[in-house]
Amino acid sequence: MNHFYKDKVAVVTGASSGIGRAVAAALAQNGSNVVLAARHEGPLQELAVELGADRTLVAPTDVTVPEQTKQLAEQALTFYDRIDLLFNCAGIMHNSGFGALDPEIFRQHIETNLMGTVNCLRAVIPLMQKQQGGHIVNISSLLGRYPLGGTSAYCTSKYAIAGLSGTLRHELKHDHIYLTTVFPSFVKTTMLNGHMKSVRESRFYKMTSNYPPEKVAAAILKGVAKRKRELTLPRHMHFTVLLHALFPNLVENITGHLLGGWPRYDQPWEP
Ligand SMILES: NC(=O)c1ccc[n+]([C@@H]2O[C@H](COP(=O)([O-])OP(=O)(O)OC[C@H]3O[C@@H](n4cnc5c(N)ncnc54)[C@H](OP(=O)(O)O)[C@@H]3O)[C@@H](O)[C@H]2O)c1
Repeated sequence: MNHFYKDKVAVVTGASSGIGRAVAAALAQNGSNVVLAARHEGPLQELAVELGADRTLVAPTDVTVPEQTKQLAEQALTFYDRIDLLFNCAGIMHNSGFGALDPEIFRQHIETNLMGTVNCLRAVIPLMQKQQGGHIVNISSLLGRYPLGGTSAYCTSKYAIAGLSGTLRHELKHDHIYLTTVFPSFVKTTMLNGHMKSVRESRFYKMTSNYPPEKVAAAILKGVAKRKRELTLPRHMHFTVLLHALFPNLVENITGHLLGGWPRYDQPWEP
């Protein structure tokens, strides 16, 4: 039990699945009150039963709709009186060559991954400012650190999250609001189905895509309690990021090779 989380109030988006679900569960297990947000109510209700109704509030929310994220923050405030922690875990990923990607799908990535996070931030930050304290966690990706062919929409949204998080970290210092950006590598969730077939069939992917969301959640909670500004997960991937900063061509070529070669511009996603 990490006492940092005892009786804290946390809002978690994307709480119905994968990393968000694991973060919500870990928070409840560490004594926090958790507001569970995602679009589909059924899985949120199931999780609430699992974690205990006294520790959870189910708040179905589409993060792409600013009115709904405002309502989410208001619900949390009415029920618990404050918001100490915000975990922006909601996200989508659908990859293909840029030329084969429906522009509508590109727009959905920006709407959900970037604007969804922006909407939640705009709803919660003023409350944290009034409280003069809080901690925000934004989930970017290793693809917010260096690019991979075939991931244009997702990669664009995740680079944007990294930049946004960096600027806010400066702006919110005065209000004692901390911000952690998380850069996960492959994590074993349903999202992995959105990768290109060539990636999913590569030996490297098969070797590295077994990282469970529960381990990610544990590392995030540990990092937040220590007020870490950034977390690259698993930790050893930090070396790849450093190496990429020094030798971008080399690292991108090796990564492309290990992940089954770069997809072509007009290559569609295949099941
Ligand atoms: N899995 C990985 O390999 C990996 C790697 C790096 C980063 N990440 C990032 O980690 C975060 C969590 O991903 P995951 O792997 O846990 O994926 P996941 O299992 O597919 O979960 C995605 C969650 O986002 C919610 N969501 C999607 N659109 C939403 C919307 N418009 N409004 C509210 N909630 C919405 C989904 O619930 P509903 O459908 O019910 O709304 C679901 O709870 C994402 O930001 C992802 O980009 C994942």
